[in-house]
Amino acid sequence: MDSKKIREKFLNFYKERGHAIIPSASLIPEKDSTLLFVNSGMFPLVPYILGQKHPEGKRLANSQKCFRTDDIEEVGDMRHTTFFEMLGNWSLGDYFKKEQLNWVFELFVDELGLNPANLYVSVYRGNSKIAIEKDIESVAIWKEIFLKKGIKASDVDFAEKNGMQGGRIFYYPDKENWWSRAGVPENMPIGEPGGPDSEIFYDLGKDLGHHENSSWKDKHCHINCDCGRFIEIGNSVFIEFVKKEKGFEKLPFQNVDFGGGLERLAMIAQNKTSVFEADLFLPIIKKLEEISSFKYRENTKSFEVIADHLKAASFIIGDEKGITPSNKQQGYFVRRLIRRAIRHGKKLNINLDSWLKLIAVEVVEIYREIYPEIEKNSSFIYENMESEERVFQKTLKKGLKEFDKLKNENVISGEKAAFLYQTYGFPIELTEEMARERGQKVDLEEFKKEMKKHQDSSREYSAGVFKSGLGDEGEKTIKLHTATHLLLAALRKTLGDEVFQEGSNINSERLRFDFSYGQKISDSEIKKIESLVNEMIEKELFIKREEMELKKALKSDALSSFKEKYPSRVSVYSAVDKDGNVFSREICSGPHVEKTSGMGLFKITKEESSSAGVRRIKAVLIE
Ligand code: SER
Repeated sequence: MDSKKIREKFLNFYKERGHAIIPSASLIPEKDSTLLFVNSGMFPLVPYILGQKHPEGKRLANSQKCFRTDDIEEVGDMRHTTFFEMLGNWSLGDYFKKEQLNWVFELFVDELGLNPANLYVSVYRGNSKIAIEKDIESVAIWKEIFLKKGIKASDVDFAEKNGMQGGRIFYYPDKENWWSRAGVPENMPIGEPGGPDSEIFYDLGKDLGHHENSSWKDKHCHINCDCGRFIEIGNSVFIEFVKKEKGFEKLPFQNVDFGGGLERLAMIAQNKTSVFEADLFLPIIKKLEEISSFKYRENTKSFEVIADHLKAASFIIGDEKGITPSNKQQGYFVRRLIRRAIRHGKKLNINLDSWLKLIAVEVVEIYREIYPEIEKNSSFIYENMESEERVFQKTLKKGLKEFDKLKNENVISGEKAAFLYQTYGFPIELTEEMARERGQKVDLEEFKKEMKKHQDSSREYSAGVFKSGLGDEGEKTIKLHTATHLLLAALRKTLGDEVFQEGSNINSERLRFDFSYGQKISDSEIKKIESLVNEMIEKELFIKREEMELKKALKSDALSSFKEKYPSRVSVYSAVDKDGNVFSREICSGPHVEKTSGMGLFKITKEESSSAGVRRIKAVLIE
């Protein structure tokens, strides 16, 4: 059964049971968020889980694009990917455990054809510290479900110490069987919903795990051990709690949040033991075999890193909210993914100067029907991949040589790591990975100190590494960056103080600025904004930089962006006239022009919607 069929069957199954099928949300969270990427189907639904009414009703289902930063290092075990599609269904205060567990089992066994004898489940052990009990209700439901298929399922505790003990239903603690966007209860911020969950595992066969030659052979096997025998394929979360100052309280409604990874379901339905050999990855793997001198099974790790990372990067760049490689926030992850993939390409002896596009083309082909944005934005994806590739390929070889010189050290100093980053564009995680491969460590503390020193120096320039959403640090780009500050000031003057920065991307041709505002900007408003910016330019304002504590900066009315996570000391840039009148004041890491004179004529070329409640303006400076 191909992945398209699985997706279709899943959605139809829930549609027949009264669920509205909702579209996948963007990979980039809407507003201020503690996470940089949407990591699950429930993420965009949190307000509704907390009680707000969803316009489509109480039963929802979809297939959601997800990206998990935590899993970057996990890629390489044949089952973890950073980007994946999550098939999800939700009950917002409607049905609960009984319907959910019966339906998901019916779907897996009767619709997707999985053998029930290969299915095992986990349930929540309970935690007295947060006064939440063992989930015996789910255990009773599971017993009944298995019995209908002639399977006597017994429940077993402490499998992590004592092994399977002939059980089919296993209790586990918070780490395995509690779900919230932030993970275990103690990591949850106040106001965050979560709850116990029940996961379904598929048994891939005894010979995969604790066999004779395996390092696992003397350990007890259980469904949550990582030996490779069992794979998790679905998780039903019973979200009925919310964290409060004093502990957990019940939400007004009991919600269900189910998620299952499509790639893993496809792997099982297609009788494979690696998700990379099932249809959502196979064309990429084949292309890699074609351009490298290896077969997948000869170096699964590098194949998986490249295939996963370039797929993820394609989706993040090609998202409705398109993110390009940069030095911070989401853009830094895109950069890390691409650069790590390029380095693993070297390990596979890929000798082409430019090959990322060949992989991205396969990604677009696999997904274009399901996620039209990836085809619509394909040239944007290719351009960004190619330019990142150009920059990094230039420095990679020399950087690797430098790295090689450090082979006799036990610990790579922070200074060296910072040098590799600043001069050759090696993300610190890449240096760490290469060091690990040689049995070396990296002095991260010292690295951080070095980087801070560097940030404090007035000008920052490094190979292919720029800040403030700037594509380069050429003169034109810097002028457009200053223009962006003037634009924000003019927007707030014209449209009101509810306007805040949501995103910015600048290259030498144009600026692109996203900001919070609920409706289309009229032509006359556009004219007004343009002339306000041009007036400021003509006033020959000075751009002044001050360094201060973040707290002080925020108090001083300097504008900040919700999306940024600022360090404790920041720079504040103000545009002031010679009498000291302030026109714009923002927390920003620069760089800017010293004076607005000579910036040129400011012109808005496009005004459009970027996402719900967010507008996007593109503008140029005509010299
Ligand atoms: N939110 C849960 C998970 O990600 C189920 O959808 O596992």
